[in-house]
Amino acid sequence: MFSRITSSKQLCVVFRNCFSTSSRSDVKVAVLGAAGGIGQPLSLLLKQSPLITQLALYDIAHTPGVAADLSHIETRPKVTGYLGSDQLADAVKDAQLVLIPAGVPRKPGMTRDDLFNTNAGIVANLVDACAKNCPKSMIAIITNPVNSTVPIAAEVLKKHGVLDEKRLFGVTTLDVVRSNTFIAEAKGLDVTKVKCPVIGGHSGITIVPVISQCTPAVSFPQEERVKLSVRIQNAGTEVVEAKAGAGSATLSMAYAANLFAKDLLEAMNGTEGKVQCAYVRSDETEAKYFATPVLLGKNGIEKNLGIGKLLDYERNLITAAMPELLANIKKGEEFVAKNVK
Ligand SMILES: NC(=O)c1ccc[n+]([C@@H]2O[C@H](COP(=O)([O-])OP(=O)(O)OC[C@H]3O[C@@H](n4cnc5c(N)ncnc54)[C@H](O)[C@@H]3O)[C@@H](O)[C@H]2O)c1
Repeated sequence: MFSRITSSKQLCVVFRNCFSTSSRSDVKVAVLGAAGGIGQPLSLLLKQSPLITQLALYDIAHTPGVAADLSHIETRPKVTGYLGSDQLADAVKDAQLVLIPAGVPRKPGMTRDDLFNTNAGIVANLVDACAKNCPKSMIAIITNPVNSTVPIAAEVLKKHGVLDEKRLFGVTTLDVVRSNTFIAEAKGLDVTKVKCPVIGGHSGITIVPVISQCTPAVSFPQEERVKLSVRIQNAGTEVVEAKAGAGSATLSMAYAANLFAKDLLEAMNGTEGKVQCAYVRSDETEAKYFATPVLLGKNGIEKNLGIGKLLDYERNLITAAMPELLANIKKGEEFVAKNVK
């Protein structure tokens, strides 16, 4: 069947023909930026999900190879590959969940905000395609700066009249994953049992670990609590420096995004009690977008579980985060107002 495929477009058509019929139980998940450092391992992890029937992989490069490779794995999701902007609409058409890791990552010395000029346009363009082709989809944004790319996505969806704030997420799961790991290491705990919420935004000082709400409860002398909190805030930079120019976190990010996607898909499928921290539209603080634990359900965010009780130290971290977070949000909104018709 595949022997005479000579172009990526043909490959895409062949894969698509494998499930041209759709039933109500079809669950299509699209990964935009699927050939990248995050996109590839994330797609591999998603390929193992029994909840997904179609895994649509879109990128501006290399998707035919990635899709062909993953399509040989003996698991439920059928893989379809889409290459280049001509195939973007097909990639997201009728998707129930779109994960977006497309865009450039940091190099040493860069902040996430330094990525804004390149990634803002990429996210706006991809979300525009979602608004037109899968307006009811859940959209999970991984592309940095998340503090700005989520407001960008919201404004684009709003322009199309299809914004549902309960279906739009900035993926901050990696901050939680890192907190759980570092706390377990510090306390000699079973890491699989440690759950520490991380709230606020997703860059430097806007990342606010809430160690006081960790389960199991852990206590630290203040100096150690500060050291640990600062390490969690700078953990992404730790990886950027260790990779020395070859990018930022990809494998741990793929793990985290898959964890988030898994819980969201299970919640969409009717499983109750799924909670993840995510950067979402929020009334918890003066920032229009703010990460908190959210209860997930069939229609996305069922309930924002809020900030909860904080130590003075943690409250001060939020105060310190606010100017940067507000500026990041404004920058994203202004980008759409100026650049998107
Ligand atoms: N949310 C988080 O916690 C978190 C963590 C790590 C990295 N990130 C971010 O994720 C993004 C991706 O990181 P990476 O390491 O995978 O980068 P990468 O460069 O390895 O991969 C990015 C992919 O995006 C593709 N791409 C570029 N423009 C595109 C477009 N217009 N449409 C579709 N695809 C396009 C590229 O071809 C590439 O395959 C970066 O912005 C990075 O900062 C977020």
